[in-house]
Amino acid sequence: MNDFQLTRTLDEHAAGAALRADVLHGLTRMPKVLPPKWFYDARGSELFEEITRLPEYYPTRAEREILLERAREIAAASGARTLVELGSGSSEKTRHLIEALPALEVYVPVDVSESALAGAARTLLAGHPGLRVHGLLADFTAPLRLPDTPGPRLVVFLGGTIGNLLPAQRAEFLRAVRAMLSPGDALLLGTDLVKEESVLVAAYDDARGVTAEFNRNVLAVIDRELDADFRAADFEHVALWNREEEWIEMRLRARTELTVKIRALDLVVPFGAGEEILTEVSAKFRQEGVREELAAAGLDLVHWWTDAEGRFALSLSVADGPRAADG
Ligand code: SAH
Ligand code: AVI
Repeated sequence: MNDFQLTRTLDEHAAGAALRADVLHGLTRMPKVLPPKWFYDARGSELFEEITRLPEYYPTRAEREILLERAREIAAASGARTLVELGSGSSEKTRHLIEALPALEVYVPVDVSESALAGAARTLLAGHPGLRVHGLLADFTAPLRLPDTPGPRLVVFLGGTIGNLLPAQRAEFLRAVRAMLSPGDALLLGTDLVKEESVLVAAYDDARGVTAEFNRNVLAVIDRELDADFRAADFEHVALWNREEEWIEMRLRARTELTVKIRALDLVVPFGAGEEILTEVSAKFRQEGVREELAAAGLDLVHWWTDAEGRFALSLSVADGPRAADG
């Protein structure tokens, strides 16, 4: 590989400690909950890619349509020499931006999945020999130290992954992104939009059961990493639309009363029949809500683009002027 550098801000020890803390906290409270970032070991990253190709899972196709249509406008508005992508995964759609940015020198994909980062770098470098790729193995909800690269910077957060954060986490995350931006930099944000319930639920409960397998993969991660004895078949995949919160909830529901031993934590976790673990929320947005959340973090929405069917949106925003609190 010619110009790939990887910085690990998450060593195995720190990732293991974070997983133990999340599992201990999440499975000893009521209702039980696990953060979605633990889906993405190598198998989880592969399953997500398979989800993006399912007929029911429209967000990837809708976002790609917007990127293809608007790549030149985005490039003209940003003039980026550095492209930073949070939760980059396979970087598959990002190619369209990379190809449209004439001044681009460095691509900085940030992800918790090392297999996804390595696979993306391999593919990108083969197609873009002049590009420097500096991957960061890091949690984007923790403070990030970006490499020192030339501006202007375009920070992109695609796929609607912002919807996997809870509202308070989103607010904190957007404030952190705002703090990364210098004058001339911009944020390109992908948000899935509120739509008919049947379309949303089908996207998270596909006929082939790939999303169910993705959901249950978090149990395999805990079994392997924490020497636990979850059996995936004991848990049913549940996807439902929470109308008040306007988010999809993915849950794992125990089919019977059972107990799970988590040896690395010296913990026995009891489940009642039908008891659930909330494994992910996937919030859906409206334009005004996105604008308000960005504004609350000090970001001005300057462009809003949707696909032809109005299913998904990309917004471009820039840091607003210095705020009173800053001075
Ligand atoms: N942006 C890609 C991938 C979306 S899947 C797309 O649009 O298709 C979500 C990606 O975010 C996965 O690659 C996952 O490993 C990564 N991810 C999830 N939580 C994360 C976190 N807290 N920090 C860094 N990466 C995270
Ligand atoms: C990564 N993220 C935007 C996906 C989503 O749609 O919320 C994760 C996913 N969960 C189930 N299917 C896809």
